[in-house]
Amino acid sequence: MADLTALTQEARAEVAAATDGAALESARVRWLGKKGILTEQLKELGRLPATERPAAGARINEAKAELSEAIEARRALLERADIEAKLTAGRIDVTLPGRGAEPGGLHPVTRARLRIETLFRRAGFDVASGPEIEDDFHNFEALNIPKNHPARALHDTFYFPDGRLLRTHTSPVQIRSLLERGAPLAIIAPGRVYRCDSDMTHSPMFHQLEGLVVGEHVSFANMKAALHGFLQAFFERDLAMRLRPSYFPFTEPSAEVDMSCVFCGGAGCRTCKQTGWLEISGCGMVHPNVLKASGVDPERFTGYAFGAGIDRLAMLRYGVNDLRLFFENDLRFLRQFRAFSS
Ligand code: PHE
Repeated sequence: MADLTALTQEARAEVAAATDGAALESARVRWLGKKGILTEQLKELGRLPATERPAAGARINEAKAELSEAIEARRALLERADIEAKLTAGRIDVTLPGRGAEPGGLHPVTRARLRIETLFRRAGFDVASGPEIEDDFHNFEALNIPKNHPARALHDTFYFPDGRLLRTHTSPVQIRSLLERGAPLAIIAPGRVYRCDSDMTHSPMFHQLEGLVVGEHVSFANMKAALHGFLQAFFERDLAMRLRPSYFPFTEPSAEVDMSCVFCGGAGCRTCKQTGWLEISGCGMVHPNVLKASGVDPERFTGYAFGAGIDRLAMLRYGVNDLRLFFENDLRFLRQFRAFSS
């Protein structure tokens, strides 16, 4: 019989040298398989004298058991090493800066609108709205702008083939609110309006803020105080305001609202074209014909209305010099407004 000790040592060395599962398995087959070297030793037993067979057989089985144990230990070790290697390869450096989810932000025009709504709500106004696709009655007729009235030429209106139109101002919401709710009432109506017009300071779609207060003793002075109060609250500073006589078919008397320039404080600069004043809104006392068309008795009720550009208010508050920036949606521009809280 071969030297069992030497064989066992050789086998163990082979097992120890196996660096992967396949090499280990072939070592197992070579030594412990059906035709393995140690298995073959058992077959040799027949050649020994009967008295020596039990002891020799026991030693061979012992050697097989020992080797089998060594193989299993080696297999467990290789498997653990394999898992470690996979973990190392797939390791994530949690200290790297993440790509992150980009938080969105409100559009500056939306911010301005929400700010306006908050301020007017605080002053007791409700926020009303109306459709952007309007009819002739609400956009013109009821606002004292009959067919062939020259004021219609001032509105470069987008018409639909059926005669409906994209509202050219938020004033139709005056009519809708009065017809729906009656007097007394105090509302603002912010929203999109459309005019066939486009350049540095005009966009075919822009935003207006309508205001309407109707009641039994509503005066021109009330209007002046409300507008001045709003402007100072919106811009968070003391501002001078002035009214210049003007004309709108739906108000009488009518005025343009100017406020002292927020950039130069009235000294004169590029934004105010050296005048010290910024034109900010149209306003006036609601024309009796408008009240009548809205089912309100003009003998009992009076009212004031105003219409301001929200985009312009936003430009002045946030220091934006080109209206078109609001509508191009360049993220580099929009991102800058995340810092503003309102
Ligand atoms: N609707 C007018 C415009 O678009 C603004 C306005 C509203 C003026 C209400 C007076 C009263 O120019």
